[in-house]
Amino acid sequence: MAGKFSPITSKLSAFIHGADYNPEQWFKYPEVLLEDIRLMKLARCNVMTVGVFSWSNLEPEEGRFTFEWLDKVLDTFADNDIYALLATPSGARPAWMSVKYPEVLRVAPNRQRNLHGFRHNHCFTSPVYREKVTIMNTRLAERYSKHPAVIGWHISNEYGGECHCNYCQEAFRQWLQKKYQTLDALNDSWWNAFWSRIYSDWSQIESPSPNGERLLHGLNLDWKRFVTDQTVDFCRQEIAPLKIANAELPVTTNMMYNFSQLDYRKFVNILDVISWDAYPTWHDDLSQADDKVAAWFAFNHDMFRSLKGKPFMLMESTPSYTNGHPVSKLKRPGMHKLSSLQAVAHGSDSVQYFQWRKSRGNTEKFHGAVIDHVGHEHTRVFRDVATLGETLAQISEVQGTSTQAEAAILFDWDNWWAVKDAMAPRNKGIHYEETVMHHYKALWELGVPTDVIGSEYDLTKYKLLVAPMAYLMREDMGAKIEQFVARGGTFVATYWTGIVDEHDLCHLGGFPGPLRKTLGIWAEEIEGLHDHDRNGIIFRENNVLGMQGTYEVRELCDLIHTEGAEVLAEYQEDFYAGRPALTLNLLGEGKAYYLAACVSEPTFYDSFYNRLVAESGVRRAWNAELPTGVTAQERTDGNYDFVFLMNFSGKEQSISLDGSFYTNIETNMEVIDGIILPSNGIAILKRVSTAAIK
Ligand code: GLA
Ligand code: ZN
Repeated sequence: MAGKFSPITSKLSAFIHGADYNPEQWFKYPEVLLEDIRLMKLARCNVMTVGVFSWSNLEPEEGRFTFEWLDKVLDTFADNDIYALLATPSGARPAWMSVKYPEVLRVAPNRQRNLHGFRHNHCFTSPVYREKVTIMNTRLAERYSKHPAVIGWHISNEYGGECHCNYCQEAFRQWLQKKYQTLDALNDSWWNAFWSRIYSDWSQIESPSPNGERLLHGLNLDWKRFVTDQTVDFCRQEIAPLKIANAELPVTTNMMYNFSQLDYRKFVNILDVISWDAYPTWHDDLSQADDKVAAWFAFNHDMFRSLKGKPFMLMESTPSYTNGHPVSKLKRPGMHKLSSLQAVAHGSDSVQYFQWRKSRGNTEKFHGAVIDHVGHEHTRVFRDVATLGETLAQISEVQGTSTQAEAAILFDWDNWWAVKDAMAPRNKGIHYEETVMHHYKALWELGVPTDVIGSEYDLTKYKLLVAPMAYLMREDMGAKIEQFVARGGTFVATYWTGIVDEHDLCHLGGFPGPLRKTLGIWAEEIEGLHDHDRNGIIFRENNVLGMQGTYEVRELCDLIHTEGAEVLAEYQEDFYAGRPALTLNLLGEGKAYYLAACVSEPTFYDSFYNRLVAESGVRRAWNAELPTGVTAQERTDGNYDFVFLMNFSGKEQSISLDGSFYTNIETNMEVIDGIILPSNGIAILKRVSTAAIK
């Protein structure tokens, strides 16, 4: 959709700016609540997330509920035009519950039950835990879902982890029975004739464990799918009483980046809005640009936006530093604004922080917060936050706008799981995420709006599809990609693609399995390279891409034969020197490229995608060259495009205009002679939509 989405809440048609607010830490400091309200207004914060991890203050003893403090907080918010996302407190339990009902505690893979403590230490299957959560959520919903300050629900906090208790084992077996119907089908799918693994009764099946079955790939894959489904089911149960009380209030749960445990796509249908927590490690090496970190977070923003294909929320970020990283650098001047608006550029309708006021004690007392231990507003961090609040108000017309991506990267969770479990030619690291980023970053440098999609997505709106290391490739996805190419799409696949199906069973009859025809190649062998090994690829003269020269290759090399594809580059060394390393197959109206080797030099990807983007006509946010480390992203309301030019290069950059007429929406001034961006600088420009002109 190339238009505007309705705001996350009908109560507020502005960007959400706020933080996790935990006033229960300050009960013994009564002046704090009122002072907080004054400071929230000063910081131009409009929405606070309240009640995350508040269970021991909401139900200090079983059945004794103490909501009065929350009444007061929410009423005070309502009196002051501040809104709240109300959390369900299931992320951590009070100690009384673990003592009285030990079954709520998680059982580790070695089958040992955990002690009470920490957070997320609960079983997602336990009937008692589910009942306690339902009672709590029902109480909260009945009391607050019509409260004027409450605009939505923040379900739990960063779901994650798994439990191996008897309830979970039983639920897993039922899940498997539903999926496979017969044991015979399960034994076949997991290839259980190997190592005498055939099960003769469902009761023999156990979750993976270090003291038991741990190398059965089909089991591992299904266990991970089950853990996702069980967590989704738990989340659905959390949501049910909230929707009964008031179906209008949107629900979200805060997700995490690089979190392989849960297939977040399975949550999409039960949530109204996607939210996630971003903690980039800016400035780790001050002699280098921040472009790598920026591209990695851009990728995650794109992935979370693509989950629903509409604006998401940046639920947590730090206004200062995260206390959990090996070294915690401070944000350099400009970086707070740049980092926050990077989320907005990629589709966020909020900038929120963890947390509002720095804890006085306990685990995260040094994690950056809007209000520091000093207690007043005269800090660099507070000024950064307040200034950002002003900027968000100035650019409010961007809120609700959409992203039009014509490029997509394929990123499936079950591929992520399977490719890491494979036991293949490089068990010391095949660097799946890094491989994805080689490709994504080149598109990011070019300012190409990109979706990050799963196999179940519709491909018809894309012109360019990149499938890095798509080891697990379903037959039907292979067929879908074939159609995509035949109809004129440009497709890029790499080494170690099309190897297994959804059961982790190898495709028979030649790799890359269901993509063999589309790519016009047969991948006969693959070699793992030691860390110290190198090979290279060299472009053939007069290749259609017009690329030249040699590029270094590491880690993995496919030895392929062409079956209709044209060779663009070949291996340089070893017994396979001269054999194809980069090929192009023409199919129908489209083109399918196969990169057989792990090229390590970013310049290869930059040149390669420069050409592909030009020849496939993929939409760019900025139609002129951008300096390295400077990127452009756009959002559109259908009539106007909002272009975010962002400088992560670590130095001042000047950018020449791309032919459109622009206004800077922070200053309302026409842009005349190009743009100078300081280090960590950002400019937000408005133009008549170029999609509309087309
Ligand atoms: C996570 C959690 C928060 C807090 C922050 C900062 O994202 O959701 O509760 O722990 O990290 O460390
Ligand atoms: Zn359990």
